[in-house]
Amino acid sequence: MEVKQAKITAVGHYLPEFRMTNFELEKLMDTNDEWIRTRTGISERRILKDPDKATAFMGAEAAKEALESSGTSAEEIDLIVLATVTPDYLFPATACLVQNMIGATNAFAFDVSAACSGFLYALSTGSMYIEAGRAKKVLVIGADKMSSILDYTDRTTSILFGDGAGAVILEESTDGTGIIDQIHHSEGDTNCSLYQHAGGSRNPATIETVKNRQHHVTQDGRAVFKKATMGMADVSLEIMEKNNLEPEDIAWLVPHQANLRIIDATANRMGLSSEKVMINIDKYGNTTAGTIPLCLYDWKDKLNHGDNLILAAFGGGFTWGAIYLKWGLK
Ligand code: ACO
Repeated sequence: MEVKQAKITAVGHYLPEFRMTNFELEKLMDTNDEWIRTRTGISERRILKDPDKATAFMGAEAAKEALESSGTSAEEIDLIVLATVTPDYLFPATACLVQNMIGATNAFAFDVSAACSGFLYALSTGSMYIEAGRAKKVLVIGADKMSSILDYTDRTTSILFGDGAGAVILEESTDGTGIIDQIHHSEGDTNCSLYQHAGGSRNPATIETVKNRQHHVTQDGRAVFKKATMGMADVSLEIMEKNNLEPEDIAWLVPHQANLRIIDATANRMGLSSEKVMINIDKYGNTTAGTIPLCLYDWKDKLNHGDNLILAAFGGGFTWGAIYLKWGLK
């Protein structure tokens, strides 16, 4: 079978207008701007305030921008893969809701659940359909309304996250650019270091689960920090070595935006200077599946055709991975 290569041919994004600054959080809980900035790198995050809008809305807006920017009609899309941990409903898939919102009547659609690595898992999945010749145009979306599962009485977790979405279109590449390699890992986290305890089949919603605030993200921050720092740095180095890449060969590291210290550790391990690292955590916080496509969107005008990019992420599950791609736009 002839294996094709998939490349990103368009990028779109959506960010809610409301900016929740660290100073706003000071009014809600015992925290302060200085602590949040120095421990995480975050100054503000966006919050989707409209109660009638959720993840599907943000994903659809990001998708529409990607479609418009490339002159692609929604009917041309064969597949939608959407990564999220904050689906509008447990079922149907949020990807199906997006399909309906944008009018992608010829697409089939499904969700991927891999927390903060979700966009990378979805990008790999989407690229396989192009590589196998089973789809011509695939929409890959990372979208999360993290504010819907945050406990704003828990200062250790709620300060980290924001809402947002990014989307890319994948198509066949004929010029050698595109996704070259991918490495993914998982390790079932039986210690519940990063969980939403209730709302699934293990602990369905009851008055008790609501009273006990079990429908929110809970985490052991230090344990996650250690695992994430090691996982993201290790897998980034692994993909460099596997592809004989030296630091000077890499134009950009596109890291999941969880914590500036985790990003710095990854860049250091790869031997990259800070000018080669995409960082927007200060403005958006951790938008979970949204972080990597939001970086690609913010940096798209600075990227050159043929640039080597390493995308890297670590998240709940645990899940982690890296993708090596040659930028194919422009
Ligand atoms: N404001 C002020 N003080 C706080 C806050 C806050 N928001 N949160 C915790 N503290 C206090 C703690 O209570 C503790 O006080 P104590 O020393 O009196 O006990 C002190 O600050 C230090 O707490 P630590 O937990 O040791 O702080 P740390 O430096 O580890 O930073 C953080 C905490 C930011 C959560 C860090 O562990 C982290 O980033 N972990 C990774 C978590 C993460 O990114 N999760 C997202 C999903 S996974 C992913 O995306 C990779």
